[in-house]
Amino acid sequence: MSEMLSARKSSSLAGTLRVPGDKSISHRALMLGALATGVTHITGLLEADDVLATGRALAAMGAAVKCRDGVWSVHGRGVGGLAKPDTELDFGNSGTGARLMMGIVSGHPFTAGFTGDASLRSRPMGRVLTPLRQMGLNIQEDRETLPLTLEGTSNLIPIEYELPVPSAQVKSAILFAGLHAPGKTTVVERQATRDHTERMLRHFGAEITIEEEGGRRSIAVAGDAELSGRDIAVPGDPSSAAFVIAAALIVPGSHVTLRDILVNPTRTGFFKTLEEMGAGIRYDNERQESGEAVADISITAGELSGVSVPAARAPSMIDEYPVLAVVAAFAKGETRMEGLGELRVKESDRLATTAAGLAACGVDHRIEGDTLIVNGAATVPGGATVSTHLDHRIAMAFLVMGLGSDAPVTIDDASIIATSFTGFGDLMVGLGADIGAAEETRA
Ligand code: S3P
Repeated sequence: MSEMLSARKSSSLAGTLRVPGDKSISHRALMLGALATGVTHITGLLEADDVLATGRALAAMGAAVKCRDGVWSVHGRGVGGLAKPDTELDFGNSGTGARLMMGIVSGHPFTAGFTGDASLRSRPMGRVLTPLRQMGLNIQEDRETLPLTLEGTSNLIPIEYELPVPSAQVKSAILFAGLHAPGKTTVVERQATRDHTERMLRHFGAEITIEEEGGRRSIAVAGDAELSGRDIAVPGDPSSAAFVIAAALIVPGSHVTLRDILVNPTRTGFFKTLEEMGAGIRYDNERQESGEAVADISITAGELSGVSVPAARAPSMIDEYPVLAVVAAFAKGETRMEGLGELRVKESDRLATTAAGLAACGVDHRIEGDTLIVNGAATVPGGATVSTHLDHRIAMAFLVMGLGSDAPVTIDDASIIATSFTGFGDLMVGLGADIGAAEETRA
């Protein structure tokens, strides 16, 4: 059920908190747990709709996925050992769940139906289906959007595939399929994308080789793999932390500390950009956990200046542009965000939905090709209702905008936030943010 929520100008935010577990790592932990032999224990799993849909899909294919006292366990079936599901697999809003699972189903000799919500049904699947077809996947329908019926095989062919778009989802789907093929399956990327799949495959005992030359990364996985169940501690999601950090930066006098945040360099482009804008960000207690870099992050509000964000940085902050655009609205001068073409195929057309939200809130901005330019100002009018278009990040970004704008900002559907950030509203209220049901906010 959709639910309207409003955010209004708040006095300083303060506190120390954790944000829910990383979404990318959570999906992968469940999936590789299901492909391993033995039991995988996962702490800190993101218990949000997207990841729970992945858990249900794996359970429908015979993996026992359970939670007890906050610890999730997956009893794996071994590579190639999943069973034909009796029901259609419904991935809800999750592109990651659907696309990565297509790689896994490719290596199994059965047919499975894939579907999702209206947002997911409108997203391009061809980018994953093209390489998987080369490996032997059969698609019953003559289209490249969900719902689709996929027919896997136990005779997959290993391929070498250069990604036409920088996408960790496509890379991961191919590598997951490659686990089931004989010989080596290689993915070449011209721009590095998040590398959780490579790290986690290694953690589970797969043979992975990575070669880097002149900016190109070549990632090969050895097929007919045997994975063993492992323990995984999922760190806090930097893409969720981004909303809290942005709020703490734009609400004057704020000071917030976030514990146990993933700081893998393939995910920290947003933090780097904020530092260039003059943000006060401190990293403490940097450490490695389950093969990933983790740190505590402290943020202090302060004056920010516009910057130019190069296209090459986009893969390391691809999910953070809506909230960066919000921060840029409060910064001094112009912020240029280049190379945003991929935003058009996210949960919504994020270039369009971000721009529409900025326009509704009275922020000076323009789009030139794949570049978004925001002109910051000392004050942001706000006073608008923003359409979220089934996009959790648009919903959270514009609530953050309302915390600093002159008049409240309302979003038309807060229920979509539960796909990635359970408890977002309560957590923000706990820090001192004035967020509440639309009719309850003071006029
Ligand atoms: C993800 C990769 C990114 C990102 C998504 C999660 C992943 O998508 O936007 O939220 O977990 O691999 P693309 O690979 O399509 O860029």
